[in-house]
Amino acid sequence: MRKAIHLDHSSLKYPLPELLLQELSEELAFINEYPCGGCYEELTAKLAEYAGTTPDCILPANGSDEVIESITRAFGRKLILIPIPTFSQYEASAERNKFNKKFIPCLEERQYQLDYCEDDLKKASLVWICNPNNPTGSPIPRAVIKKILSSTSGIVAVDECNYEYSGESVIDLIEQYPNLVISRSFSKNFGLAGLRLGFAVSSNRNIVEIARYLQHFRVNKMAEMAGIKVLKYLDYFQDIWQKIAHTRDFFAKGLSDTGIVVLPSKSNFVLADFLTEGKTRQVWHYLMRENVFTVAAWEKEFSGLDNHYIRFTISNNEEMAYVLELLQRFLRNTF
Ligand SMILES: Cc1ncc(COP(=O)(O)O)c(C=O)c1O
Repeated sequence: MRKAIHLDHSSLKYPLPELLLQELSEELAFINEYPCGGCYEELTAKLAEYAGTTPDCILPANGSDEVIESITRAFGRKLILIPIPTFSQYEASAERNKFNKKFIPCLEERQYQLDYCEDDLKKASLVWICNPNNPTGSPIPRAVIKKILSSTSGIVAVDECNYEYSGESVIDLIEQYPNLVISRSFSKNFGLAGLRLGFAVSSNRNIVEIARYLQHFRVNKMAEMAGIKVLKYLDYFQDIWQKIAHTRDFFAKGLSDTGIVVLPSKSNFVLADFLTEGKTRQVWHYLMRENVFTVAAWEKEFSGLDNHYIRFTISNNEEMAYVLELLQRFLRNTF
């Protein structure tokens, strides 16, 4: 049988540059030392340069999951608004801290529209926006984010962990909106999911507040060095992001041509609607038997997703063409 194809976690499915791996392996000799004094000065400067802001507005963390947790603990005490369907960790963090949360349904007739009402926004201390949203892949228009920012005195946290695929960021608004916090990741775009590296971007005042909930040595030395070094290879990764976008559109079109509705995505995954839970389970099990792993709605990855969806992370063209062929054959012969 073919080797397993993992379209489940939305990590980068391409190899890291050989030279980067070599540079990192040389760093192993120094893991007897702590990371850079806990202040992460060089890493923070590099992240600030990449994000187009100043180092005092940056806070590196152990993956963007840790950014989500610390934002929740810093600002979620009164009421957290979570748009659904979305990534499950906003809910999980609220639960862990026993904070009040309110889910806001945003998917209607397969259109994801962020629709926070004025009253909820007035009461909230923390409002989540996932842009582009996981698992729908929907981009959130900048005008919508600005309107939400102006309508609440709570913190608006924009999760931009898939920014590299959409190209749309609101980092440039942090001076204008003191209630804006952004979360970024190195997992989906730079292939560092296993090392765990993410960061928050906001006014220095918010950064200091979020840092109160984080450990001194929260980013390990290898992740610190990887973050510093990986940005030198930006051209290599930009080329991969383009390839993934191209493959995503090819796969989405191929699947749509079989009659399956695929939501338009600006991310490194697509969400497909198989209409009934029974049909969805059949497709998901069939793919698993063929050694192809995807994420179904009933798994822990999402909050508020109906059980007739499967999310496919986009890999390289060859693997996606193979999976498309499997699906075409199965759908033709089964339904
Ligand atoms: C929307 C979203 N935010 C955050 C994360 C967590 O990413 P990280 O690996 O940086 O913790 C994920 C991972 O799947 C995600 O999809």
